Amino acid sequence: MDQIVSLSRRRGFVFPSSEIYGGLGSTYDYGHYGVLLKNNIKARWFEAMILERDDIVALDSAVILHPRVWEASGHVEGFSDPLVDCRTCKLRFRADKLEDSQCGRKPSKHPGETPECDLTEPRQFNLMFETTVGPVQEEGSRAYLRPETAQGIFINFKNVLQIARRRPPFGIAQIGKSFRNEITPGNFLFRVREFEQMEMEFFVQPEESERWYRYWIDERLNWYLRYGLRQSRLRVREHGPDERSHYSQGTSDIEYLYPIGWSELEGVANRGDFDLTRHTEFSTTKLEYVGPDGERYVPHVIEPAVSLERIIVAMLVDAYDEEVVGERERTVLRFHPQIAPVSAAILPLIAKSEEMVSKARSLYEDLRKRQSVEYDDNGAIGRRYRRQDEIGTPWAFTIDEQTLSDETVTVRDRDSLAQERLPISGVRSWLDDALEQDWKTPKAD
Ligand code: GAP
Repeated sequence: MDQIVSLSRRRGFVFPSSEIYGGLGSTYDYGHYGVLLKNNIKARWFEAMILERDDIVALDSAVILHPRVWEASGHVEGFSDPLVDCRTCKLRFRADKLEDSQCGRKPSKHPGETPECDLTEPRQFNLMFETTVGPVQEEGSRAYLRPETAQGIFINFKNVLQIARRRPPFGIAQIGKSFRNEITPGNFLFRVREFEQMEMEFFVQPEESERWYRYWIDERLNWYLRYGLRQSRLRVREHGPDERSHYSQGTSDIEYLYPIGWSELEGVANRGDFDLTRHTEFSTTKLEYVGPDGERYVPHVIEPAVSLERIIVAMLVDAYDEEVVGERERTVLRFHPQIAPVSAAILPLIAKSEEMVSKARSLYEDLRKRQSVEYDDNGAIGRRYRRQDEIGTPWAFTIDEQTLSDETVTVRDRDSLAQERLPISGVRSWLDDALEQDWKTPKAD
């Protein structure tokens, strides 16, 4: 994890937030390549969940919803973790995760293990961030930053049913920020207080819910394989009955083998009719499906839910590689080409050659209309290649002496390091084809 954190910072993917003020624990800002990476992951999710399907529509609901939403959802009452304070070291821990925490005075021990540890009794701590709506803090002005995007979907169920004229099975998907005042955030982006969720609520006939639950576990697992995560580092773990959330009739985690061990990447839950029933009760608006022949029922909901942050950590860890090429060590991120922040680099071999620079610039200006490409004429060519390897750029096109005589360029492959020549006029379609093709992963399983 340390290598990933250090590369992310060095290459401008992710910075610790508010650094000039001493930092705000476990809060991060995304730099240029981090933003490009996030955009690609969101785009691939959006394609798979919405654009490539007929049965799912998009939504972008508000972050601050009516406070009653969170009463109906059960978050006001039940979205809490048990917390203990240590009177000696003044640190706070999750009472149910003491074995994963370190004692503040003796980091080799867990809280409660040394004679000096003086832990309070556990008390429940609600994870929702509170805020005030309107200029004064008064009765009735309390609201919350959403701890999940899902509730914004449930409260729009009727709108989508009527206006988008859908009938089950159909889904509503959204991407947006969620906020949780986690007691023990950490492990880089894995557990943070502000994160971007990608959630989809799929409404089905009650008797079909088990089939769709299994279907979505497979779909989501295949999405990770499609975008290059190693099969050997992915597994599905079904929750036991005492582990499930209050709303769940069945939950499976898609787990990834992170450097901290097997941990939840994405959750797929069968939420039954809990949410629509509760919002019907609390809002008094009937949330049900009424068919053309008068049949009526409350659909059951299957929910795949993940955060970009957990995907980013998994993709960085999976892509990270170090190897020796010739005499030199290189660090390379073997991202799937459709995930890589930059698809191709355009490099004039000699920055002082006006002809090479002008050809490289015009190729770059042509390609950047459609792809995320980068022009770089700074430093020795070997150093420029290594820079691109470290941000995971799959291909580099180099304009050299020969280009000036025969209008060809070399293309260098990030993984095999093979180089081939192709006409400069064919680069655009070569790159389009390369991005379209099925990716053969260079990673060992
Ligand atoms: N709507 C259901 C729901 O939010 P969850 O298991 O609490 O369920 C869903 O969260 C996903 O959101 C998780 O599988 C994980 O990918 C992500 N997630 C949850 N808490 C997170 C945190 N503090 N930091 C980063 N990602 C988080």
